[in-house]
Amino acid sequence: MIGRLNHVAIVVPDLDAAAAKYRDDLGARVEPAKDLPEHGVRVVMVRLDNTTVELLHPMSDSSPIAGFLKKNPGGGMHHVCYEVQDVVAATKQMMDKGVKVLNEKPKIGAHGNPVVFLHPKDFYGVLTELEQVPDAK
Ligand code: CO
Repeated sequence: MIGRLNHVAIVVPDLDAAAAKYRDDLGARVEPAKDLPEHGVRVVMVRLDNTTVELLHPMSDSSPIAGFLKKNPGGGMHHVCYEVQDVVAATKQMMDKGVKVLNEKPKIGAHGNPVVFLHPKDFYGVLTELEQVPDAK
């Protein structure tokens, strides 16, 4: 069902420092930071040949990732995202398998595509996002 790894999201305590580390130390292609107010995050996209790493920082204390950063003050991996062709079909398949889907009605994710999130308890402690991508393999 799943296709490519679309992105790995990492919450960081200092977005500028994290962007500099990926750019200067790892030599990665790092895009300028941008705010995604509808998601409560400021993000830096690190573009790799085969996937993207998203460096996330909360825009405010009410951000969905503010609690994560409080629990993990040094930062940490927040979720992985796999591509699917049909997120509604994927959601049904997951529910049929007994997986806890956090939002049964897909919402529009950070890339403008419908997404659902699967509970970390069902995926070995990793919050897992499924994103409907038009050209998903
Ligand atoms: Co994501």
